[in-house]
Amino acid sequence: MADAKIIDGKLFAEGLRARVAAAAAELKAKHGLVPGLATVLVGDDPASHVYVRNKNTQTVAAGMQSFHHPLAATTGQADLLALIAKLNADPAVHGILVQLPLPQQIDSDSVIAAIDPAKDVDGFHLMNVGKLAAGIAGGNVPCTPMGCLMLLKDALGDLAGKSAVVVGRSNIVGKPMAHLLLGESCTVTIAHSRTRDLASVCRQADILVAAVGRPLMIQGDWIKPGAAVIDVGINRVAGTEPGKTKLVGDVDFAAAVKVAGSITPVPGGVGPMTIACLLRSTLLAACAIHRVPAPNL
Ligand code: GUN
Repeated sequence: MADAKIIDGKLFAEGLRARVAAAAAELKAKHGLVPGLATVLVGDDPASHVYVRNKNTQTVAAGMQSFHHPLAATTGQADLLALIAKLNADPAVHGILVQLPLPQQIDSDSVIAAIDPAKDVDGFHLMNVGKLAAGIAGGNVPCTPMGCLMLLKDALGDLAGKSAVVVGRSNIVGKPMAHLLLGESCTVTIAHSRTRDLASVCRQADILVAAVGRPLMIQGDWIKPGAAVIDVGINRVAGTEPGKTKLVGDVDFAAAVKVAGSITPVPGGVGPMTIACLLRSTLLAACAIHRVPAPNL
């Protein structure tokens, strides 16, 4: 069988960012509206710093406003909640993103609950979680699963009736991914580390989404021939040269590409879609808050 089609998330994300930038320019010209994203980063985690810096840079590149709030690792709950209240009330801010994980002295659930659901561009507030679970349109949807869904629809077209297996049950990816696929009329299974005979569960999948954070866990013979494989994993492992590291996904790509019908690489697959979807969500949040018709992005 021919190798799988490579789903180029980097290219798709570039296109989406360009569409967001064009829509932002039109919003400004027609309505004098410039979408604004506030990011909040507590502490010094180097990986989180890189993620948030990329979010800020790409927000500005799309013609939107970026408001970054770096806070000390020792910041207390009350100070963080006071900042959230200020951002909720700020008319220039349409999206609020508090980078997770937060330091242990802070209760993440209370912080997320304090964000205005209309500005919760992560889609983590219970109001948005509930809307997605209930199939009610108009809520904010988490960015990474939204990006996965866009890639799947682009690669496969209509997803109705397909068997989808999501490996991973996190609130950030696995659970919202399952709801999005259910919304597309897939038959959805959520599998996880305690699932019995995970390999044969995966082998049922027309669509296999791997979001477990375990390097190369999904092997070639776990994949149904012709399946679409979406690899959300970003795992840093030792490289072939001493002292060097490299990024690998949750899927053994070299084996899977021989079996799958289409597959996302790591890097260059799902990763770039997360920020592109964040920009899209910020623009759509600005439209919703100002009751301006939403562009089709
Ligand atoms: N940390 C890892 N992924 C995410 C995400 O999608 N949003 C936020 N806020 N923090 C994260």
